Amino acid sequence: MEKETKSVVVSGARPTGRLHLGNYWGTLRNWVDLQNKYGCYFFVADWHALTTGADKSENIAANTREMVLDWLAIGLDPERSVFFRQSDVKEHAELALLLGMVAPISWLLRNPTFKDQLQELHKQKYKGQEDKMKQAEGVTKQLAEAHGHDAGELALHSDMATLGFLGYPVLQAADIMLYDARFVPIGRDQLPHLELSRDIARRFNHMFGAPVLTEPEPLFTSSPVVPGLDGRKMSKSYGNTIGIFEDAKGLETKVKKMYTDPLKVKVDDKGHPEGCVACAFHKLYNPDWKAREAECREGKVGCGACKKQLIELMEKELAPLRARRAELAASVNPEELLAAGAAKARAAASAKMAAVSKAAGLI
Ligand code: TRP
Repeated sequence: MEKETKSVVVSGARPTGRLHLGNYWGTLRNWVDLQNKYGCYFFVADWHALTTGADKSENIAANTREMVLDWLAIGLDPERSVFFRQSDVKEHAELALLLGMVAPISWLLRNPTFKDQLQELHKQKYKGQEDKMKQAEGVTKQLAEAHGHDAGELALHSDMATLGFLGYPVLQAADIMLYDARFVPIGRDQLPHLELSRDIARRFNHMFGAPVLTEPEPLFTSSPVVPGLDGRKMSKSYGNTIGIFEDAKGLETKVKKMYTDPLKVKVDDKGHPEGCVACAFHKLYNPDWKAREAECREGKVGCGACKKQLIELMEKELAPLRARRAELAASVNPEELLAAGAAKARAAASAKMAAVSKAAGLI
């Protein structure tokens, strides 16, 4: 049977809100292609969402359901891939617990994103409340000093440095190894996390003297740069996104807001496409984008006309997705789909847990 000989790919996404074009071009388009070549497990990482946002969890369940409909609409196929909700398959937590017995805390502290992300979380929490932020930092410093820790270990004493947050890479390692994934599609920035997964797998196998866990390999997928409306990376936290299923009116308004070359004021001023957001989107949606860039440089087209054409091109590609999304919302119960996916995932996960528990001497 062909399916059984295919290498397994695992990937997850946090249910943090509706998907945008940065998610689409950066991740989801690749997922759709991966389905042709691999046995794919795609899951909604709801426990992961809690590692950084336990205080804002009220939309997780609703976002999970919306995300599944988004996935279907862009072409992820539950007949070919398994999709499920992480918290439906308790083995993720069980394996994470066992991996936690062999993953040294020092490895987790060395994770380069730990301190960076923690700082980012602090900034978000105390946005516009400078004195509260200073106060929290003061408490953190006092705690560190009381423990005889130096500034390098300050992060550990933050009220947001929870066990779940520090252990996030361990849960991620469990997500991957539960399905014997050969590959994990990632961007280069996530390589340290995957390396950590590999180190944990190796240590586990060595400690228990059995090659029970598979070391996952990175699968570097190419994806274009998708700027947000303001020219920074498209990201929900910057408020500069265009939703994949944005309605026609919203799409038009947003394209009109896109940052363009500030030196091009009059229609016939010569433009500089590098750094222009509308030009970046022509690259994605206009097969003749090279000709457009040349026209821009020569001052043969104004930004208004350029954006007008972009709106038409984007609308042509996005309207069918939007229609499909609406049809799916009316006809598919995402909870049913998730339940069916969870049953398939659980079959693989429980077999793996039996082997792992045996290796660890529990049964
Ligand atoms: N790290 C991903 C994120 O935060 C989600 C994720 C969780 C994941 N577990 C995973 C991705 C396993 C790939 C494999 O968005």
